[in-house]
Amino acid sequence: MCGIVGYIGTRNAQGVLLKGLSRLEYRGYDSAGVAIIESRKLNLVKRQGKLRILADVLKDDPSKGTIGIGHTRWATHGVPSDTNAHPHLDCTGKIAVVHNGIIENYLDLKKILLKEGHKFVSETDTEIISHLIEKYYKGNLETAVSRTVKLLKGSYAIAAVHSLEPDKVVGARCDSPLIVGLGEGENFMASDVPAVLDFTKEVIYLDNHEIIVLTRSGVTIKDYDGRTISKKSSTIKWDIKQAEKSGYEHFMLKEIYEQGDIVSNMLDERLRAGKISFEELAIKASAFKRFKKIAIVACGTAYHAGLTGKYILEEYVRIPCWVDTSSEFRYRNPIVDKDTLFIVISQSGETADSLAALREAKRRGAVTLGICNAVGSSIARESDGVIYTHAGPEIAVASTKAYTAQLAILYLLTFYLGKLRGAISPPKMKKLIAEFKRAPELMNELISEYKDPYNNIAAYASEFKRYYYEKHNKSYFLYLGRNINYPNALEGALKLKEISYISAEGYPAGEMKHGPIALIDENPWVVCIATQAKTYDKMLSNIQEIKARSGIVIALVTEGDKEIQHHNVNYVIEIPKIDELFSPLLVVIPLQLLAYYVAKKFGYDIDQPRNLAKSVTVE
Ligand code: F6R
Repeated sequence: MCGIVGYIGTRNAQGVLLKGLSRLEYRGYDSAGVAIIESRKLNLVKRQGKLRILADVLKDDPSKGTIGIGHTRWATHGVPSDTNAHPHLDCTGKIAVVHNGIIENYLDLKKILLKEGHKFVSETDTEIISHLIEKYYKGNLETAVSRTVKLLKGSYAIAAVHSLEPDKVVGARCDSPLIVGLGEGENFMASDVPAVLDFTKEVIYLDNHEIIVLTRSGVTIKDYDGRTISKKSSTIKWDIKQAEKSGYEHFMLKEIYEQGDIVSNMLDERLRAGKISFEELAIKASAFKRFKKIAIVACGTAYHAGLTGKYILEEYVRIPCWVDTSSEFRYRNPIVDKDTLFIVISQSGETADSLAALREAKRRGAVTLGICNAVGSSIARESDGVIYTHAGPEIAVASTKAYTAQLAILYLLTFYLGKLRGAISPPKMKKLIAEFKRAPELMNELISEYKDPYNNIAAYASEFKRYYYEKHNKSYFLYLGRNINYPNALEGALKLKEISYISAEGYPAGEMKHGPIALIDENPWVVCIATQAKTYDKMLSNIQEIKARSGIVIALVTEGDKEIQHHNVNYVIEIPKIDELFSPLLVVIPLQLLAYYVAKKFGYDIDQPRNLAKSVTVE
């Protein structure tokens, strides 16, 4: 949600800011802007629309300054427009501010500022910050920012500059991410690591209620009471190339294709002589032995991974487990206590609701475990222990590889806990691990089938479009799954609606008769996950019920399935054979590709779908 960048050094700030913003565009892309100090004047340029529109404008009249701030926006307060785009100025035009987050008390503060004579031009909450800094400015930007942030309620990461202080960029954070990038004779701040990786790999992660001052020669960090804080920097281990398309048309396709290798690398890293190792995990084995229940919270795709986690944890660890969306968890009165292992799953590690849920669980005494992709993220740092998925940077807004990586970690965690608590015998463990090790190769086998652009899923997407336009002028998808693949039905539907804007619903197939069957006629397409032995016959009955009502069925079956041809389904997708415990890792791949090819047929912006942002750092 909104990306901010700040730079001070000797390079051309415009180039650095645009590069940084391009790496952050996944966070929001409805408008963008920069403010650069040049000859003690602010050069402000901002435009509605994607970053390239701003870049084109800047190309015509480049700024020469070496200090500035930039922003890419995901609108919260005020429609996307040139005026509402950041940076926002004060009345004097000397102070510029960029912000990620929501200032909840902005109306109260605005009333006071209006009474004092300040003039506002935008509808944003952010603009009050520039005016507050103006109000408190007495020749030192840092002091003015420090007085301002104490008045703000809500979440924010901000960066500010003053045209008469061309030797510093000041930033602060509260519940929105902010990192510092350390260079030689130059320094950076940004919402996320990729923004600085073209220039440095040395970063400092800021914590809440910290104020930073970047100069060319250094960085100072203080708390809100002015006490200096000394923090260690970390070296980023991954390369910026991983955040590039590398010849693929879309990040989403690249990330779908990476999934087999990610799971393979994870097994190489985590399995040592048949033993599961979570090196980074700070929770002791003895703590894992004593809890009596497991709670999992997450949002969106990560929540679907959590739902799958419930099936496997209950089956193999034999502990009660419930799963909640973070936003629901935090506003009910859950029974979470010191006997609870509280697992929060998050790709970004910054999702506001998940972070709030984690804090609530800690407050109630639970042992908290984060499963995160982004190293050093807030959830990773605030959990008692963290397990990283190491899926590499996920750039496409629609999550794919983070999901399979989360599933893979949940399998490993299940086996780890099952063994530790005596629920999985050594021979059983051996068998489970041996079967799990087959998964990455089968995932890659499945993926390689779909590398042919004329694959069957692309053809189905094409037919869907024709059918959708020619016959009904609207259509929708229903995804049905059972048991361990029910969460994949939810995930398939989520992927489709996110990037193709087509209505899609995931349902446990057994529930079809309790409502969704009323929707079936010749219009909707029904994706039936029929790969599992345990529930296969039940799914065939569902298929019959859909066909009896003229529904169009895409069946996902196990390779070599001879039965499905007798059921009059319209389309078939085959999945390599694996123990059904691990089938979610395979089944989801064609579901991701179906969403991808449908969106592609409709010509939508697959990597940056409308209204969405990758990291949801506001409630
Ligand atoms: C779906 C998607 C979102 C995220 C959700 C949680 O494709 O990307 O539903 O899964 O916003 O994000 P994280 O995992 O970063 O907490």
